[in-house]
Amino acid sequence: MAQAAPSSSEIPGVLTRRTALRMLDAVMRRGEPLDHIAPPLLRGLERSDDRALAIAIVQESLRWQTDLDQLIDSATRQILPSDAKVRVVLWLMLVQALRLQMPPHAVVATGLPLLTGGPRRLAHGVFSTLLKREAALPAVPTLPSAVARRWEAAWPDRIAAIAAGIAAPPPLDLTIKDAGQTEYWAERLGGTSLMPGHVRIPRAGTVEAMAGFADGAWWVQDLAASLPARLVGAGQGRALDLCAAPGGKTMQLAANGWNVTALDRSASRLRRLHDNLGRTGLTAEVVAADALAWQPDAPFDVILLDAPCSATGTCRRHPDVLHRLPAFDALTDMQRDLLQRALGWLKPDGTLIYAVCSLEPEEGERQAASVTNVHPVPIPRDALPAGITPTAEGWLRTDPGMLPESGGIDGFFAARWVAR
Ligand SMILES: C[S@@+](CC[C@H](N)C(=O)[O-])C[C@H]1O[C@@H](n2cnc3c(N)ncnc32)[C@H](O)[C@@H]1O
Repeated sequence: MAQAAPSSSEIPGVLTRRTALRMLDAVMRRGEPLDHIAPPLLRGLERSDDRALAIAIVQESLRWQTDLDQLIDSATRQILPSDAKVRVVLWLMLVQALRLQMPPHAVVATGLPLLTGGPRRLAHGVFSTLLKREAALPAVPTLPSAVARRWEAAWPDRIAAIAAGIAAPPPLDLTIKDAGQTEYWAERLGGTSLMPGHVRIPRAGTVEAMAGFADGAWWVQDLAASLPARLVGAGQGRALDLCAAPGGKTMQLAANGWNVTALDRSASRLRRLHDNLGRTGLTAEVVAADALAWQPDAPFDVILLDAPCSATGTCRRHPDVLHRLPAFDALTDMQRDLLQRALGWLKPDGTLIYAVCSLEPEEGERQAASVTNVHPVPIPRDALPAGITPTAEGWLRTDPGMLPESGGIDGFFAARWVAR
């Protein structure tokens, strides 16, 4: 999908759509995570509104891709390849009209220039036909087939609720550094709280502009992502945050009094962890190392292993994960190796927490079931938000279909053991 260089004489708004098109191309054709490729591409857009619109177009296209394709194919006799540029341009035109309340004339004026020298008439025809037909997207997105097959097998009773949980962009969750200030920040930011230390804001503007950000009074963290570190509680011993960047759980542990070692192998993600610690005034010893090669000088009272995973549990916020499933065998081997190493670094009576932001049982439940030589410590009901109960095994399992009345929650798995 070759794209022309942006021209300064372009109609205003075309560059925003061209940027969205490039992001979609990177995710769908090259399998790149949106988080990686978005920042450099968005730098070409000066206004924050334009950057937000480009991201919204991409995320809505990824959320509804299967249904968008069905609409497109219903409006033309031509067989369009799945990666045809005209198809991708039609995704972004249709989500603007059907999801982002953009007037059709603006959609056409900013969409067709993306196809200069290409099938503009076809795109215009398909778009106009669908609008004349008053075509609509379903209430719940149809999942891409590879993900649908996996979740049908793993969560037959939950898959409909999970798909419904993906239909809308999620609210913004914050973790409050001083849980005693939860009510204050909920009121100040116009949010609600589902647990002490948690505030949920319905729709976010620019996070950096919100009260309390610059002062480090809170950080952005999905409610589910905050649960594993909550299982550690307060303490003063040595805690290892293994696979720590960008540091959400490091900050929770440090705010709870622990003397934290935060280890990660990604230099760029560790820069964000440093920024986060600086902003919140929290401290940790930061180690840039491969956890599969590193050895600590002394054992730990607590180890929190937030293992690298498919991240399918974050699909509400990062719908690109629905379209780029990883090679699971390599990933689950790595998770098992990390778990084994972490088990060897615990003090007697030390606590291990294993967590993944994944909906895949082989990354969560099956890894936990294979842990031996330590004692499971079941997660109590009162460590979790109202509406979420531990599994029969005493594990944490959330999915995007849970808490639908209060804005949902990401998918996460966590288990806890103590060494004896
Ligand atoms: C799920 S993310 C961690 C999120 C983090 N715990 C938080 O709450 O902000 C997984 C992290 O594992 C790191 N990682 C992957 N393989 C690693 C390895 N072998 N050694 C150290 N870090 C690794 C990645 O760089 C990534 O930052």
